[in-house]
Amino acid sequence: MNLLVTGGAGFIGSNFIHYILREHPEVSLVNVDALTYCGNLENLSGVEKDPRYRFVKADIADAGTMAEVFAGASFDAVLNFAAETHVDRSITGPSVFLRTNVAGTQILLDLALKYGVPRFVQVSTDEVYGSLPETGAFTETTPLAPNSPYSASKASADLLVRAYVHTYGMDAVVTRCSNNYGPWQFPEKLIPLMITNALEDKPLPVYGDGLNVRDWLHVEDHCRAVWLALEKGVKGEVYNVGGANEWHNLALVKELLAILGKPESLITFVKDRPGHDRRYAIDASRIRRELGWRPTYDFASGLRQTVQWYIENETWWRRVKSGEYQKYYQTQYGL
Ligand code: NAD
Ligand code: TYD
Repeated sequence: MNLLVTGGAGFIGSNFIHYILREHPEVSLVNVDALTYCGNLENLSGVEKDPRYRFVKADIADAGTMAEVFAGASFDAVLNFAAETHVDRSITGPSVFLRTNVAGTQILLDLALKYGVPRFVQVSTDEVYGSLPETGAFTETTPLAPNSPYSASKASADLLVRAYVHTYGMDAVVTRCSNNYGPWQFPEKLIPLMITNALEDKPLPVYGDGLNVRDWLHVEDHCRAVWLALEKGVKGEVYNVGGANEWHNLALVKELLAILGKPESLITFVKDRPGHDRRYAIDASRIRRELGWRPTYDFASGLRQTVQWYIENETWWRRVKSGEYQKYYQTQYGL
């Protein structure tokens, strides 16, 4: 099976590539990534030598270059991980989110159609459903109600996928996963930011009252869900993915500090994110029932392993945290 994986130098895409090359010897793949601030080929070290792997630096929103990638490649499927993904950046600069997440997805859909690619998997997010009160969980029929420019751009892409299924008969599925954690996550997202700041004895910026809730899943469990959706998902369907693992941000940050043996005095409450979604929770019963998916990681050990990974890969995150990210950090937090 010959796959086009977009965004494979990012957090989830790189984990997916490691996972697939390890677990599925029948798969070969082309990784297309624009290497934006968070795309990092170091996430794929070791993989470059695999003859089943090829990297192409390209922007999914550049139709001409993407047409060259598709021409003559005969892909069996496209898996679209490429996106601008950080809610806070979408608040300060939404344009690039529309370009990559919406126009980029539409260009991939068009090319998949033109070149007769038999399957398309759109990797989406639970954030398209908006925010939940204290109870309940998102199902696949929860109305879309995105609240940030990021989630609005992802919801738009999901709707384009739906339109291509209905209008052109395209064979596509959408996965909507909750928050991921694990190795190679860019340290602007909650868990790696808190781990790396704590390791540097820097303040841990918690937004608002810290009582927002997120539903955390290990990235490898997400990767297995994407693979199952590719293999067994029903054309036109949406699959929610989540491990029923809800945490208040503050409780999670305290847990990380406890694992690291660092003091809670590092916690600094900062101004809340505008339009901050209060709670996400996923009902994943459909993918469990219909595709036989189960999360394999237990959160306590997955979190410890992740902390250990950041301790052992200090060179990786220190390099990532220098340069452009430094400028963003100062503008975002003034810390
Ligand atoms: P990431 O920000 O770590 O990686 C995104 C990758 O896409 C980077 O390698 C970047 O260089 C690449 N990219 C960005 N713009 C591009 C463009 N125009 N052309 C080609 N490549 C481009 O993101 P992630 O956390 O790995 O997320 C991957 C996907 O999973 C996204 O679609 C995201 O919406 C979705 N998702 C993420 C989470 C999460 O918790 N991180 C949860 C659910 C869904
Ligand atoms: P994040 O990792 O940005 O994921 P998302 O907003 O897409 O769910 O944030 C997870 C939660 O952590 C969210 O409620 C915002 C909060 N948060 C902070 O409190 N401080 C921070 O510095 C960051 C980045 C996030």
